[in-house]
Amino acid sequence: MKKVTISTLIKMKQQGERITVITAYDASFAKLFDEQGMDAILIGDSLGMVLMGEDDTLPVTIEQMVYHTRSVKKGTQRAFVIADMPFMSYATTEQTYTNAARLMAAGASMVKMEGGDWLLDSVRGLTERGIPVCGHLGLTPQSVHKLGGFRVQGREQQQAEDLINQAMALENAGAQMLVLECVPTELARRVTEALSIPVIGIGAGPDTDGQVLVMHDMLGVSANYMPKFSKNYLALCGDIRKAVSLYIEEVKQGKFPTDEQSFS
Ligand code: KIV
Ligand code: NA
Repeated sequence: MKKVTISTLIKMKQQGERITVITAYDASFAKLFDEQGMDAILIGDSLGMVLMGEDDTLPVTIEQMVYHTRSVKKGTQRAFVIADMPFMSYATTEQTYTNAARLMAAGASMVKMEGGDWLLDSVRGLTERGIPVCGHLGLTPQSVHKLGGFRVQGREQQQAEDLINQAMALENAGAQMLVLECVPTELARRVTEALSIPVIGIGAGPDTDGQVLVMHDMLGVSANYMPKFSKNYLALCGDIRKAVSLYIEEVKQGKFPTDEQSFS
């Protein structure tokens, strides 16, 4: 069993093999996803919503992220482990270094941060100090109050061009992966083609280098509502391992997402 590294994921993009990602927050689920062959596991700050029942991700703390990252790492042998930096834990570069270091020490192999231009110095600084960074553009849930709700981003021409420029700037600053959330299929395709780092989509159509789902959504057990871009695989299979394996198979074969789970 060969460990998945950032080099593995970049090679997968180059070879056109789709990358499968799922969130996990504890050792048991992480182990199950790892055993089914998931390429990467994200300790998402979505845990604020699916574990804690909050309305958004803003109440999540760095201590909680460290705790869950440690748990996920214990259950993971093969998959690449990415941890979210929570709301306002990367407001300054100093805070960014301290908090990213805590997540890495807890077992993450990469940290993820939401934002574009304002983040470039932090992305460059972390990368230079040996901490790989995943960007996150489009619907960035930590900015929900600024965005006026959880809604599709980049539908207007100018917004779309801005997003492409920010994605390229993140890559130039050293980011080694990018998550695109809730953007039209065509925009996600353009970003994926423009970048040489893997682009992982959620509600971003079928043309990204990989897909990520929140585990509670793909098992149909989310406390709140089920997003349009997700799919309840447990309902289709009746067994968690089979559900995870079908998600992986559908992503690898380009059968998920379809238009039904995408935005135009
Ligand atoms: O927190 C999370 O689960 C995420 C994914 C939806 C990408 O950031
Ligand atoms: Na997140």
